[in-house]
Amino acid sequence: MSYDFTKTIDRRGTYCTQWDFTQDRFGRAGVLPFSISDTDFEAPAEVVERLVAVVQKGQFGYSRWNHSDFKLPIAGWFERRYGVGVRPAWIAYSPSVMYSASVYVRLVTPKGGRVLALSPMYDSFPGCIEGNGRELVASRLIETPAGPHSYEIDWEDLAAKAPSCQALLLCNPHNPCGRLWTSSELTQLMELAARHGLHVISDEIHADIVRPGLAFHSALEYLDVWPHISVVSSSSKTFNTAALGGSYIIEPESSLYEAFLQRTRHADYLNSPAICGMYATMEAYTSCDYYADGLAALTASNMDRLAGFLNERWPQVTMRPAEATYLAWMNVTGLGVSDDALQEALVNVGVGIMRGDTYGEGGEGHLRMCIGCPPSKLELGLAAMDRAFASLA
Ligand SMILES: Cc1ncc(COP(=O)(O)O)c(C=O)c1O
Repeated sequence: MSYDFTKTIDRRGTYCTQWDFTQDRFGRAGVLPFSISDTDFEAPAEVVERLVAVVQKGQFGYSRWNHSDFKLPIAGWFERRYGVGVRPAWIAYSPSVMYSASVYVRLVTPKGGRVLALSPMYDSFPGCIEGNGRELVASRLIETPAGPHSYEIDWEDLAAKAPSCQALLLCNPHNPCGRLWTSSELTQLMELAARHGLHVISDEIHADIVRPGLAFHSALEYLDVWPHISVVSSSSKTFNTAALGGSYIIEPESSLYEAFLQRTRHADYLNSPAICGMYATMEAYTSCDYYADGLAALTASNMDRLAGFLNERWPQVTMRPAEATYLAWMNVTGLGVSDDALQEALVNVGVGIMRGDTYGEGGEGHLRMCIGCPPSKLELGLAAMDRAFASLA
């Protein structure tokens, strides 16, 4: 099977957050969006066919996820794609990744507790911590234009902040700066967590989109360093199925697994899975490796094209191709204009690119551009950026 990642699809008129609601984000309808992190691709044909069959049956009564048809494909994906052994008994369905993260924050920290996270960070992280009455303790990543990686963890800062925290909410790989944490960094993080008793919640939703030649390491590889690690993830980012609902947790600690189920079933009353999301996960993780590979390759080539464009036309804008995620992260401070002026210039030429300060401390002076799109759309974006930057020069 194959998917043509050069094919364009019209997502407008589908209540699509990225395309139909640009007014919310950019104050103008109809801008060409490179914003929210989903792709401009159809789900794999196998997933669509499976869903057509499910929908045609017309049976949408209460359903269950606690069976090996749901768990084995997830365990298989982790084994095949990341080389990590996951016991089916550790897997549970959850409506969404951020729902899981939010439940974990409540389960592993006390009211008024403190959660450590690396900044700039995915913009739902602060809400999921502070909205639950916990304090966000942000440790700012160090931007390193010339080092082996675009950003490094500030270990001193982290060590100073960790003792007062009870959990680490890790984005692995990291949205927005596209860092793929190395084995040595993850070992160090787990050692730090062990030293200070931090429960690690590892959000691994971006794990499949990795630059060729690099390897993703799940936090689960480090259970022998520190056993209090929970993974929250979903097939939705890779296969573009977020609106179907559904995700999963991987929880090796049986008491915490039970506590998670108790919370979802008997406190939040989320008993039935979203059946389309469940089937999509099962099918994608069984028969769509080719699609994940193709998307990772397309992302790398889009990333290189964007880096080449900047290098040639706007060398004062610096960007290292993301090691993972389909989110490009550019440092635009060299343009010498404010974030407000830059946004205005971009929107004026009809393009919507996320402003970096959306992602908190350290995000200012940056842009986050979702490039999970056909090359032809990227070209339109580059032409628009060219006009916007020129209008500011
Ligand atoms: C790091 C990260 N976690 C979670 C999500 C959202 O997942 P869900 O819609 O399942 O809550 C996103 C979406 O952009 C993300 O980037």
